[in-house]
Amino acid sequence: MKIKQSGLPYIGSKRLISEKLANTMISLKPNAKVFLDVFGGGASMSLMMLQKGFKVYYNELNRKIFTFFNFIINNDLPDYFYNFVDRNEFFKIIKSKPKTEEELIYKTFVEIFYSFGNKYTSYFCSKEKVELNKQKHLFIFNKIKTIPIFESRYKITGLSHLIPKLKTNDINKTRKNISNVIIKLEAIKCCIEYGDLNIKNFFHDFSFEDFLAFKQSDMIKLINKYCPNIPKKSYKTNIEQLQQCQNLERLFYLGQIKSLQELQHNEQLQRLELINGVKKIEKQYNSNLILLNHSYDDAEIQQIINSYNEDDLIIYFDPPYCKVDYYNNDCLFDYEKFKTYQKTLKKQFFLSEYNNVYDLIEIASFDKRQQFDSSKSKIVKEKLFTNKIIKQSL
Ligand SMILES: C[S@@+](CC[C@H](N)C(=O)[O-])C[C@H]1O[C@@H](n2cnc3c(N)ncnc32)[C@H](O)[C@@H]1O
Repeated sequence: MKIKQSGLPYIGSKRLISEKLANTMISLKPNAKVFLDVFGGGASMSLMMLQKGFKVYYNELNRKIFTFFNFIINNDLPDYFYNFVDRNEFFKIIKSKPKTEEELIYKTFVEIFYSFGNKYTSYFCSKEKVELNKQKHLFIFNKIKTIPIFESRYKITGLSHLIPKLKTNDINKTRKNISNVIIKLEAIKCCIEYGDLNIKNFFHDFSFEDFLAFKQSDMIKLINKYCPNIPKKSYKTNIEQLQQCQNLERLFYLGQIKSLQELQHNEQLQRLELINGVKKIEKQYNSNLILLNHSYDDAEIQQIINSYNEDDLIIYFDPPYCKVDYYNNDCLFDYEKFKTYQKTLKKQFFLSEYNNVYDLIEIASFDKRQQFDSSKSKIVKEKLFTNKIIKQSL
């Protein structure tokens, strides 16, 4: 079974480096069988270690995220969760004060599913793109049979009849189909608008499957051969943005790249896939996951630490990062108290931070892309620390 980097979209999530972190900790504690994820959050490390065969204790103090995680692994999402939430409803819901557990779970779902980034404060798409996203949403959830905006946009290509075929029963597959097909249709549209009509003839008898399988690299060759008029050097502007674009996108970097990304962008569907993925992994390793809702210094956490031998247990701390303003306010996390707590621990532990604020031993550093909004991102160094190095006997 292929290991998946999973977890809820969450502030400070380690999903994208979860396998590297896991492998580093396991290499230093090769006999360990139990993983204690003290600051569990979106559960990326818990889910990774489950897949590595560990018995996992997931702990999280925040009632909202704990309740949501507990709910999705034990229940299917109710049908009304799939109704489309527009911008106004989104802000209404995120400002609301839930009165019941169900309302809390729905609010958390809306925050995760409809927000951009992991701060849960901004709606996932611009005003102009709401209608397109709504159509995609209704299409995926079987409420409409095609995506009218795409059908009319790609009428010029003679291939708009392929749009209804993008739908499958698997959200992830539909998401991939949309990305795959839209970039190629956009390229063809672009060529036709530049007056290169040969490309249209090339595809006229393609089935959906043929079109899906047609490689982006072959499309580039085709454009170079049949569409000599299309500007190829107009994408010289922003190098950083360019590096993020792949093959075909480079070819028609005509100032409209952002709109292409928005057409293709299916981050929302990816989020739903992540939520479903969490459930799949948990189901598979069901009996090995124990959920706890305590503070790191609670007696029950201490009891778990005491009940295992040093060799058997990996303790992992991923606390809110020091001096990082996650929540646009002064973090309530008391770093000094946590620092004092750490000193009381006799067993080895691992800790993620950007900087060595707790005077520990740095053992690894991983690059992670941090996205601020749809156009701004930067690479940050995520470091892994430990309190002591234990020599392994051969
Ligand atoms: C950086 S996040 C963890 C991210 C997680 N590793 C992931 O990949 O999604 C830190 C988490 O610690 C939780 N937290 C804050 N104070 C805590 C405490 N005293 N005990 C346990 N968890 C706490 C926060 O609610 C937050 O979810």
